[in-house]
Amino acid sequence: MHDPYPNQASGLRLLKPAQPVRVLAVTSGKGGVGKTSVSVNLAVALAMAGRKVMLLDGDLGLANIDVMLGLQPSCNLAHVLDGKCTLEDTVLEGPAGVMVVPASSGKQHMAELSPVQHAGLVQAFSELSRPLDTLIVDTAAGIAGSVITFSQASQHVIVVVTNDPTSLTDAYALIKVLNRDHGIRRIQVLANMARSAAEVREIYENLRRVAEKFLDVTLSFMGSVPEDEWLKRAVRHQRAVVDAYPNSPSAKAFHQLAAKADRWSLPQGARGNLEFFVERLVHRAAAVIPA
Ligand SMILES: Nc1ncnc2c1ncn2[C@@H]1O[C@H](COP(=O)(O)OP(=O)(O)OP(=O)(O)O)[C@@H](O)[C@H]1O
Ligand SMILES: [Mg+2]
Repeated sequence: MHDPYPNQASGLRLLKPAQPVRVLAVTSGKGGVGKTSVSVNLAVALAMAGRKVMLLDGDLGLANIDVMLGLQPSCNLAHVLDGKCTLEDTVLEGPAGVMVVPASSGKQHMAELSPVQHAGLVQAFSELSRPLDTLIVDTAAGIAGSVITFSQASQHVIVVVTNDPTSLTDAYALIKVLNRDHGIRRIQVLANMARSAAEVREIYENLRRVAEKFLDVTLSFMGSVPEDEWLKRAVRHQRAVVDAYPNSPSAKAFHQLAAKADRWSLPQGARGNLEFFVERLVHRAAAVIPA
C-alpha cells in the first residue's frame, strides 16, 4: 500500500532518548492584546533563570517575534518545509540564549501541509540536537485553524486578555471553541495591561463566571502584567523588557509568571518529547481542515 508518510518512520527511528519538554501555547481571542510580548518576555525570563528555551513563532500570517527582538532571519519554517534549510539553520539567538524559530510570514497554514511536508517537519524536529526544556509558541489571535492546532498540541494553553470588553468576549469565544469542539479542559488566564489589582480581578472573574457556567472547562488564574510604558519603550527599541528594563513593573511581573510556569507539570515519557508535539501538531492540523 502507498505510504503517505514515507519519511516519518525513518525520522522517528532517529529519536534520541528524549528529555521532557514543557510546551506552552500563548493565545488570545482578540489581536493586539500582548501575546507576542508575553511569549517573548516569558521565554527570556525563563532563559535568565537557566532554562533552555525555544520560542516558536506560530503566527503564520503575521510573524513578528523576529521584529520584536530586532533579529534578521535568513531562513524560516517555510524554507525547512521546502528542504532549503534545516531547522537548525532557522534558529536565531535571542536575549539570554533563547532559541527563536521564526515563522514563514506567509501564506501556508499548517493544515495545508502535504503528508511529505508533515513528515519533514517531524523529522526536522527529531534531528534538532540542542537540549531544550521549554517550548513557547506564540500563536495568532482568534479561532483560526493554526491557533486551535497549536493549542491542542501544547500541554498548557495561556489565553491573554485585557479589560477591553471585546477582548473578553473574544477570549470567551476562543475558549468555547477550544473546549466544546476540541476537548481542552484547562486554560490559564493571563490578564495583560491591567491598571489595578481590582481590574485584574474583574477581568478574571468576568471570564471565569461565563466560562464555568456554560462550558466544561477549568480556568486558572496565571497572573497579570501591568500596563507599563517601559514595555512599550522596549518594543520600540526591539528589545525584551525583561532584558532592557529589568526593574520595570512589567519585567518583575514576567519573572513571577515565568517562575510559576516553570512549576507546571511536565509530561512524562514519550509524550514529553518535541517530536510528540510536532506529531500532534500535524495530525491535529489534518483534523481541523474544514470539510
Ligand atoms: N503590559 C503592557 N503594557 C503596555 N503596553 C503593552 C503591554 N503589553 C502589550 N503592550 C503594547 O501592545 C502592543 C501589542 O502587543 P503584542 O504585539 O504583544 O500583541 P499581540 O497580541 O501579539 O498582537 P497580534 O495579535 O497582532 O499578534 C505592543 O506593541 C505594546 O506596545
Ligand atoms: Mg503577536
